Amino acid sequence: MPDHDEPTRLDDFLSSIQGADPFAEVADASEAHRVEHASTLAGGEQECGVYPSSALKMRLLAAIGRATNAKRVLEIGGGLGYSALWFADFVGDGGLVETIDRFAEHVEAIRRYAERFGMGDRISALAGEADDIMLTLDSTYDIVHDDGWFGAQPSYYDRLADLVRPGGLLVMSNWFLLEHAVTGQSPVDWSQVLGPTWAEEIKSYARRLAADERYDVSFVQRPAVALAYRRTDA
Ligand SMILES: C[S@@+](CC[C@H](N)C(=O)[O-])C[C@H]1O[C@@H](n2cnc3c(N)ncnc32)[C@H](O)[C@@H]1O
Ligand SMILES: [Zn+2]
Repeated sequence: MPDHDEPTRLDDFLSSIQGADPFAEVADASEAHRVEHASTLAGGEQECGVYPSSALKMRLLAAIGRATNAKRVLEIGGGLGYSALWFADFVGDGGLVETIDRFAEHVEAIRRYAERFGMGDRISALAGEADDIMLTLDSTYDIVHDDGWFGAQPSYYDRLADLVRPGGLLVMSNWFLLEHAVTGQSPVDWSQVLGPTWAEEIKSYARRLAADERYDVSFVQRPAVALAYRRTDA
């Protein structure tokens, strides 16, 4: 699933004034990994799927996580661990980030990077399909980051709401697709990747989220991320 939340000149300027990305090495390794892994997969780069988050998005999520004193984070779609490291940084000592990925080689890399950055005790990488792993979890989380969905409402949509604690936050990456769907302008022909009805499916998922009484949802476009506050009264 290509990211194609392509950096703009504004993104480049902001990155240049915001100081070094402490985990840039893992983002770079993720890009290189995807090309290499793709050569062994019938579905190529999209099947590997390791498109790391942007540093701008992770800075925003780190600010939210710190301000809300988030201690428990669940992530669907760990990749090589780039976003998990940002989460682990703000949950602090005693906090825990659990991150799910379907590829054993991704999970091994997450564990390796967690150790390398001294965060081995704060990151737990879980190997398997999100649908299966999420059924085994009996905790609730301050923040759930869904970086696994792409192009349509995920099969685990209802399970997400069980796992975000009331008063917590469901964060969904990849919502740059909504602007592409609504404006009809995109750097990528998504119908080749997601099928001919992709734009309708994206808009339909956005409508479903916006109407879901369990959440108050904001669709942010720069950086592209949807934030769904889990209401305490629903
Ligand atoms: C966009 S990448 C994650 C990038 C990572 N969060 C980061 O910022 O570096 C998506 C990852 O999710 C995994 N994935 C996607 N859907 C999944 C599912 N249903 N169950 C388990 N893993 C999934 C893919 O294997 C891929 O590694
Ligand atoms: Zn891969």
